[in-house]
Amino acid sequence: MQSYTVSELLSQDITFPEVEIKGWVRTFRANRFIALNDGSTLNNIQCVVDFENFDEALLKRITTGAAIHVTGELVESQGKGQKVEIQVKTLEVLGDSDPETYPIQPKKHTFEFLREHAHLRTRTNTFSAVMRLRSALSFAIHKYFNEHGFYYMHAPIITGSDAEGAGEMFKVTSLDVNNLPTNGNGKIDYSQDFFGKETNLTVSGQLEAETYAMSLGKVYTFGPTFRAENSNTSRHLAEFWMIEPEVAFMDLAGNMDLAEDFLKYVIKYILENNSEDLEFLDKRLQDEDKRKPQAERSTMTLIEKLKFVTDNHFKRVSYTEAVDILRNCKPNKKKKFKYLINEWGSDLQSEHERFLVEKHFKCPVILFDYPANIKAFYMRLNDDGKTVRAMDILFPGIGEIVGGAQREERLEVLKDRMAAINIPEEELWWYLDLRKFGTAVHSGFGLGFERLVMFVTGMSNIRDVIPYPRTPQNAEF
Ligand code: 4AD
Ligand code: MG
Repeated sequence: MQSYTVSELLSQDITFPEVEIKGWVRTFRANRFIALNDGSTLNNIQCVVDFENFDEALLKRITTGAAIHVTGELVESQGKGQKVEIQVKTLEVLGDSDPETYPIQPKKHTFEFLREHAHLRTRTNTFSAVMRLRSALSFAIHKYFNEHGFYYMHAPIITGSDAEGAGEMFKVTSLDVNNLPTNGNGKIDYSQDFFGKETNLTVSGQLEAETYAMSLGKVYTFGPTFRAENSNTSRHLAEFWMIEPEVAFMDLAGNMDLAEDFLKYVIKYILENNSEDLEFLDKRLQDEDKRKPQAERSTMTLIEKLKFVTDNHFKRVSYTEAVDILRNCKPNKKKKFKYLINEWGSDLQSEHERFLVEKHFKCPVILFDYPANIKAFYMRLNDDGKTVRAMDILFPGIGEIVGGAQREERLEVLKDRMAAINIPEEELWWYLDLRKFGTAVHSGFGLGFERLVMFVTGMSNIRDVIPYPRTPQNAEF
């Protein structure tokens, strides 16, 4: 007898005298119809039980959440809603699920409730769809880079440098935190620590990726990164995944082209290969929208939004132009922004980014040439002496999804910028070496993977697109 997944069975046009399947019960209706799901698809297979032929005690154990093993005949379905169904011959309960205590009942649960039961939330349609899409997106990302001649590079997760300045870092130590060794000045003596120096979890693999780009040409990282900021928002995680391509001999314009082409490719991949899950989430959002007042409803469905990104040019706007627009816009003049934009040089907050994308340009936007003093030290200084070759990509509903730059390849300029913000040269001697030996123009960017998953699934809280979110005061599971 052949064992199948639900997905395989549902795509059959022919009937089979004998099939075998294992999965979890979603519902059991009228002592007769089991809706069985095994994670291979959003859809359930209907297993029809002739209850006269089964022990009543056994049927009582067919409860929501139970794991069962079914054999039977795959037949054309009598009812509507499915092409085929299984006429059950044998039925075995592999694992019971007590209906009194099983948390995931067949009814609507709030996302907050499901977050507290994150170990079981992928037994719901919404979360199984989100996580299947997350997996597909990650595959599409590797596929893109593979097809475009990039090497996948694994940047270290424990880092000895605290120089990038992308965010607060988590310390890594094997010292006894209740009894820390100190040196003469009362400071912690890290020479006694595991690595003989202070170490942290990485905030980005970029600096290491640069070293590989300057030898292998085109590389990318795709790994976990950590930031200890206390930002409790719906778009920030303390542990998130980042994709960081880095390319030798590529300038900022090439970097923008790459990022745009890459984002369009992965979104198109999902549109073409994952329509079932996408359509489900699209409908979910439309239903949610209907319950909102007219003014708050979105003008596009989820799938329309994704097609909008794949079919349109990303608008490229300099920081200076963007600040002009923001300074003169209604919400700024009427003091509706929390942070008002008064002068050139202000950092942009997510309210400003979202205004530009959602209200002003109404399309994805690439902002470039930011003031040097609000961006990282490694970004290439422009000839004006005050802006750097940075770029951020802003998406509707998300704000910043990508941050990147052309890197400063001139040794002296880089040293000056490091000195200006007190980064000791000793700490980044290897990074400076790249500028001493065969330096060249190079660029790259970082895509926040969870922000991309949010955009593609339409989920509005970043905690709902990663299996086990790590956020301030929360590291359960
Ligand atoms: O803009 P960021 O900080 O850029 C870097 O780390 C560069 N080293 C990237 C590079 O040039 N190679 O972060 C890149 C992206 C952001 O645009 C955002 O999408 C995401 O990472 N991100 C976060 N996502 C979730 N939670 C957080 N706390 C995030 N911080 C940044
Ligand atoms: Mg950024």
